[in-house]
Amino acid sequence: MLTGAVIGCGHGGGLSLDALQNSDRYRLIAAADPSSAARQDVARRFPNIRLFADYREMLADCELDVVCVATPAPSHASIARVALDHQPKGLLLEKPLAPDVTTAEALLEEVRDAGCPAVVPHGLLVLPAMQEVKARIRRGDIGEIISVEVRNAVDLLNAGIHWLVYLIDVFDDGRPVAVSAGFDVSGHVVNDGVQVESIGTTTVQLRSGIEIVFRSGNKTVPTSDVLPSEEQQGALFRVIGSEGVIEFSAWAGSYWMQAGESDGKLLKRPLPTGVSYHRLFLEQLAQNIADGLPDYTSAELSLAALRIIESAYRQQGESEWRLGVPAPRQESMGE
Ligand SMILES: NC(=O)c1ccc[n+]([C@@H]2O[C@H](COP(=O)([O-])OP(=O)(O)OC[C@H]3O[C@@H](n4cnc5c(N)ncnc54)[C@H](O)[C@@H]3O)[C@@H](O)[C@H]2O)c1
Repeated sequence: MLTGAVIGCGHGGGLSLDALQNSDRYRLIAAADPSSAARQDVARRFPNIRLFADYREMLADCELDVVCVATPAPSHASIARVALDHQPKGLLLEKPLAPDVTTAEALLEEVRDAGCPAVVPHGLLVLPAMQEVKARIRRGDIGEIISVEVRNAVDLLNAGIHWLVYLIDVFDDGRPVAVSAGFDVSGHVVNDGVQVESIGTTTVQLRSGIEIVFRSGNKTVPTSDVLPSEEQQGALFRVIGSEGVIEFSAWAGSYWMQAGESDGKLLKRPLPTGVSYHRLFLEQLAQNIADGLPDYTSAELSLAALRIIESAYRQQGESEWRLGVPAPRQESMGE
């Protein structure tokens, strides 16, 4: 059994805390967060673990096999580097690896050079419904893919990165050849410590000719004519093929499909009770550690998605609200 700890105990960190606690491959032993409210919350939920205000003290005091970094994005790289100095057996790094490609690439290179297995928990890479959709698209169940639209991508950097990672994985032979984007930034939205768009449309053209359109911004509830409301959780995807259509909502665990002459139908493929995608990623990491075979697939896909996002964000130019840069008030966080 591996010992595990979490740095940053907000929403994302909570997903890793639960996953470590629920997996029989791990023993959750510690967590760190400078916020006393966050620590109190963790103490109530996990009364037997050690809590630290300073993650450096935790790394120095605890025998940790696996460390999960779930602080705001601008601090991921600096914290992950300190964690790496303690030679963990594995790392779970939250997305995005960093708000910018240069920092993210450098971090991943250091992680690889250290031979440290690492995962970035992009849920759609492991959710059963999403994996079934991927298999169907690749098998040609809806014919040749004509277009892909994603609505309610929140912002590209924080949620859109999940959808991009998934679509890059599905269409893995179709690396992007062009990215065009238009954003409205007047809402001055900060998400995860980074300046992001209020509303935007980003079009990604793949070598194969497939075009993916992302409508991001404003956390509106997406609406679908075919998915029941309880099956609409998170961004809404519509994939149109020459012989059918697949529509699904990112976190719902289901998809609607119509192919050929048949009527459309809803197929439900939820995760088993008690299993989360953070747990699946942490268990995959435990297996990589046991096998001595690091697998950087999720991290590489995350980086590939970040490259597209940065390319889109740069089209906003050097306006007062530059996209993808740490918001001034939060710049000092994480150090
Ligand atoms: N993979 C996923 O599905 C998923 C889901 C939610 C969040 N996330 C990611 O998790 C990260 C955190 O997001 P969130 O929604 O939990 O934010 P949050 O604001 O809810 O929590 C962040 C926490 O980090 C703490 N923190 C800040 N600096 C720290 C430091 N130096 N040491 C330790 N703790 C520190 C804060 O006090 C806060 O409690 C982000 O990168 C986000 O993208 C990923």
